[in-house]
This record gives sequence, C-alpha cells and structure tokens, in this order.
Amino acid sequence: MRSLMPISCIIPLFFGCTGDQQTLTFPTLPDIESSTTSSTTAQFSTSTQTKEFVLSLVGEVRGELEPCGCPTLPYGGFARRTVALQEVLDGHTVFQLDAGETLLKGFFSNKGDTSIDRALLIGELSKDIGVDVWTVGPSDLIAVGMETLQTMTGPPRISATWYNNEGQRYFEPFKVISKDNIQIAVIGLSTHPTDPRYQFIETKSAKETLAALLPDIPSDIDMIVALGSMDDEEISDLQYTFPSIALFLSTEGANYEDPQHKPNATQIIEAPKQGRFIQNIYVRQTQPQKRLDNHVNEADWRTWLMVKDDPTHSVHQTLAEKGQRKNLYFTELIPLSATFDRTDTASQEKIASFAQSTIQKSQAIAEQPTTTTEPGFAASGRCAQCHTAEMAKWSFTNHSRAWESLLTHPVEGSTTNPDCIGCHTTGFGQVGGFGEPSTSNLRKFKAVQCEACHGPLKGHPNDKSIQPTPIDKDTCLGCHDAANSPDFDFDTYLRKATCQSK
Ligand code: HEC
Ligand code: HEC
Ligand code: HEC
Ligand code: HEC
Repeated sequence: MRSLMPISCIIPLFFGCTGDQQTLTFPTLPDIESSTTSSTTAQFSTSTQTKEFVLSLVGEVRGELEPCGCPTLPYGGFARRTVALQEVLDGHTVFQLDAGETLLKGFFSNKGDTSIDRALLIGELSKDIGVDVWTVGPSDLIAVGMETLQTMTGPPRISATWYNNEGQRYFEPFKVISKDNIQIAVIGLSTHPTDPRYQFIETKSAKETLAALLPDIPSDIDMIVALGSMDDEEISDLQYTFPSIALFLSTEGANYEDPQHKPNATQIIEAPKQGRFIQNIYVRQTQPQKRLDNHVNEADWRTWLMVKDDPTHSVHQTLAEKGQRKNLYFTELIPLSATFDRTDTASQEKIASFAQSTIQKSQAIAEQPTTTTEPGFAASGRCAQCHTAEMAKWSFTNHSRAWESLLTHPVEGSTTNPDCIGCHTTGFGQVGGFGEPSTSNLRKFKAVQCEACHGPLKGHPNDKSIQPTPIDKDTCLGCHDAANSPDFDFDTYLRKATCQSK
C-alpha cells in the first residue's frame, strides 16, 4: 500500500498542518478495499500505471508582488504563494504552470515605478518560486518588449502560436517536464497581441497549432496540457477536437470559482486573477494522454481524506466507481490570504528592496524642476483659500480619508509601501509631487486631493498657462482599476465622490 499524507497537510486552511510530513501520496483509491492483504493486485488498469500529481496553476499575476489592498479579496503576493506551495502541496509531485499575462501591472501612473523593474522582478520571483513553464502573453510583451521577454531571467517560456514574418517561432512551442517518473508536455497557446506596436507578430490559430504539434509529442508522455492566454471562444470550440489533450489551462479568471465538468470534453480551467489564488488540480491518472474524465466533488474528496483508514465508508466505493478506467481530478482553489503570512521569506527581501528603490526614484522625480506642462502640485491647503465650496464638498468624500484607510488597514507597512501609497495620496512619483513618505511630505500630499483629478496646478490661477486637466473616465481609472475598484462605473462614481457631489 502507498502511504498517505496526513489530511491536515492537504487542507491546512481548515485543519492547520501538523504532524509528520510523509512522502506524497495521492490517494490510490481502488486499492483501498483490499488493503488488508498485501498480495492483492490493483482492481483496474493493470496495463497502465497509476500516476498521481498536481498541476498548480497561476495566470494574470499582472505585476502584483504583494497582497492587494483592495476592499474585496485582499489576497495574493509572492511571499504567501511560496508558503502556500510549501505547505499545501508538501509531499506531492507538483508541476507549476503560469498561463501568462504575468509581468505588467494594470494602469499605474507613478513614473518612479518604471514598470520594467517590476516586470524583471516578477520574472525573477516566478523563477525562484519554481514555476516550471510560462506561456508568454500579450501584456508580457508590452511590459518588457520581445527581446527582453526572450532573454530575461525567469521560468522557461513557451509560445507555439507566435511567429515572425519569416515563419519562425519566437519561443519553444512546448516543454516536456519530468518529475518523479511523471512526464507532462505543456503546449503554449498565446493569444494575438492587440497592441498596435506588436502587430508584426503573426499568430496562428490554436487549432492549426495543436494539429501540427501533437504528432511531435513523444508517445511516453503521461499528460498533455495546453496553457496560455488563449481566446475563450476559440478554445471552447476545441473542447471536443483533441482527445489527447487533458486540459486547457487559460487566463481570464471568469470561471475560477467552480469549473464545471463537461463530459467527454477537454476541460477548460481558468487561472485566478492578479495572483490572488493558486488553482491546484490534483490528478489521478490511469489512462495516459487522455482527457480527465471525472471530477471528484469537494464533499467526496474531503470526506475521503478524513475516512481514508475506514474502507467500510461508502465514499470509498463512490470514488472507486468513479475511477474505473477514468482519469480523476479534483480542483482546489487556495486563496493567498493572511493564513500564509510568515516573516522573512526570500521573496519579501527582494520585494522590500524593490519598494525602497521605487520610493527613491519617486523622490528623485518629485524633485525634478517643474515645467509648464508639469507645474508641480500646490496641495489642497492652497486650493481651499479660493475654492471653499469645492473644498467643503470634497472633505465629506472618501477621497479625503484615503490615507486613514491605509492607517487602519490590517496589512502592516502599507503606509510605506509604494504599491499602496500611489493611489492613496496625490502626485506620487510625479514632477513637483510626492516622493518619499516623510512626515512633512505626507502632511502635504496624503489622501486623494483636488489635483489627483484636476492635475498639477502649482502657479494657478496667476499663471494663465497653467490649466486644470480635463476630467474623464481615464482620470479615475489610473486608481480605480479592476483590482482595487471592481465595481467602478464612471457615471455612478462621478456623482458620489468629487468636489461637485451633493
Ligand atoms: C491602483 C490604485 C490603488 C492601489 C495601488 C491601492 N489602492 Fe486601496 N483603493 C483604491 C481605490 C480606487 C479604492 C476605492 C475602491 C472602491 O470603493 O471602488 C481603494 C480602497 C481601499 C480600501 C477600502 C477603504 C474603505 O474603507 O472602503 C482600503 C483599506 C485600501 N484601499 C487599502 C489599500 C492598501 C493596503 C493598498 C496596498 C496594498 C492599496 N489600497 C493599494 C485604489 C488603490
Ligand atoms: C488665489 C485663488 C485660487 C487658488 C489658490 C486656486 N484657484 Fe482655482 N480658480 C481660481 C479662479 C479665479 C478661477 C477661474 C479663472 C481661471 O480659470 O483662471 C479658478 C478656476 C479653477 C478651476 C476651473 C477651471 C475652469 O475650467 O473653469 C479648477 C478646476 C480649479 N480652479 C482648481 C483649483 C485647484 C485644484 C486649486 C488648488 C491646487 C486651485 N484651483 C487653487 C482661483 C484659485
Ligand atoms: C489618486 C487615485 C484616485 C483617483 C485619480 C480617483 N480616485 Fe476615487 N478613490 C481612490 C481611493 C484610494 C478611494 C478609497 C478612499 C478610501 O475610502 O480610503 C477612492 C474612493 C472613491 C469613491 C468612494 C467609493 C465608495 O463607495 O466609498 C468614489 C465614488 C470615487 N473614488 C470616485 C472617483 C472618480 C469618479 C474619480 C475620477 C473622476 C476618482 N475617484 C479618481 C483613489 C482615486
Ligand atoms: C474625484 C475627482 C475630483 C476631485 C478629488 C476634486 N474635483 Fe473638482 N471637479 C471634479 C469634476 C468631475 C468637476 C466637474 C467639472 C469637470 O468635469 O471638469 C470638478 C469641478 C471643479 C471646479 C470647477 C467648478 C465649476 O463650477 O466649474 C473647481 C473650481 C474644482 N473642481 C475644484 C476642486 C478642488 C478645490 C478640489 C479639492 C478640494 C477638487 N476640485 C477635488 C472632480 C474632482
């Protein structure tokens, strides 16, 4: 009999991980009923071996280094991801896959946060954390450009769909990864970049690409998966086309709550967004290079873990029947919550030094000489002298309290974290604006003040060349991005929190 890891280590969210960490083992379901005698043979699949492993999926990490400060789902970050991988998947054979859209942080206007530094750091951290393969996507290209994307430090990159005008691929089309006598082949399906700067890339269709590649996949591979930022519609059309592909693992995040199992189809599993979760797909395979047939539901799975030593429990029978000549899988979404906070992981050091250098750069930019187009920030104390009505209205909005929200936020260090202060202050990393969070700087620039919307206005109204910036949706989106303000709607929000609100 195979040994089984203690249940407490598989679901530490619920039970806390204690006790001896035994070697992996994914449940060998069919053996269980005959487990009292040592000479029994497996009940099924005598011709093929049972392989047990975990695919751990991320995608759309989108430049997020640390837990998001957002009011909803304040999860994520590399430090927690490191801990979660160690603790939740300890003892398992794990293949770490990144579906792409990894490097580029959403709209962010701070000029001191040169996104290239962030992108390079994300590449490095992804490699450190042990990502086995990464399908590059359109926003990765925007973050660093093609040449850097090909050469930067990071996990091995693939893309089977992107070609240059000479018909050559920019990246390896697929990668074979071997661990513990299990071999998986991962094919990279990147979607076509919409950015006009990258129209020189020719993108072949997923269908054409897979049809051409599958014959090249060695026959001794256990599982074939396709990974990447693939187009949703295109992929759903292919769910019934390629029976040898076990899974389509894609970006998007829409279905991550509970992927629906479709019978006789290649399942699509979408990666959770912004690095806030990891999606673990536990596989128990008896049929190589075949689809995953049966999704084990959570109740059965968790029950089974709890009663594994009690072969008389009906769940053993249920799962043995489900596993009859079938590849079983169970998906588990792990929120990277405070449960996984530990002090001093290696990634934290790198992130801290990135934060420090971002603040130094912001300060250097803040100190640059002002110009007519970048006149610098006067701060709201100045505006109040003339625009008392606007000042009064603004002071009742949440914008005026944005700094206090950081002070009361449970995540420590947010008041010195450039990934928070940029949106909760005014003029961060802009000429004549806010740089290092010193007490005197903060007194002037804390909270989302007038000039966060109206633009830098130092010199107004005396200098007529200095005019407020017209306000539209984009004024808000720099801060009200999808991660931090998921419910943002321009018309609704505009009425609620400007200097013009009722
Ligand atoms: C890209 C801009 C941006 C960044 C970066 C950002 N925030 Fe925010 N934050 C917002 C916006 C916008 C809201 C308001 C969202 C809404 O109500 O739609 C908000 C709301 C909040 C709130 C809720 C306030 C309340 O009481 O309702 C907290 C707390 C908060 N942020 C903390 C943080 C922390 C901590 C960080 C850093 C880890 C952070 N934010 C980073 C833009 C940002
Ligand atoms: C000394 C008084 C004074 C101060 C200080 C002042 N303003 Fe004004 N502001 C005016 C006057 C007068 C006008 C109208 C004439 C003009 O547009 O120059 C105006 C116009 C504006 C307008 C509207 C322009 C338009 O399109 O009608 C905005 C927006 C504005 N100010 C914002 C600010 C902000 C933000 C600050 C603080 C950074 C500020 N003002 C500081 C006097 C002032
Ligand atoms: C510099 C970043 C920034 C900009 C620019 C910005 N906001 Fe905000 N906004 C925030 C932050 C941060 C909060 C959360 C404040 C808090 O409660 O701590 C917020 C909160 C709000 C809220 C309150 C949400 C609620 O339900 O409590 C509204 C409404 C809002 N903003 C509308 C707008 C609109 C409209 C614009 C554009 C015209 C805009 N904001 C521009 C950062 C920004
Ligand atoms: C969340 C964004 C936001 C903030 C913060 C904000 N305003 Fe405004 N302000 C607007 C919008 C929107 C208008 C409407 C006119 C427009 O679209 O330009 C406006 C209009 C104005 C006008 C012109 C009023 C008129 O009658 O034409 C003045 C003056 C002004 N704001 C001053 C201020 C001052 C002073 C502050 C800070 C105390 C401030 N605003 C903060 C969004 C903002």
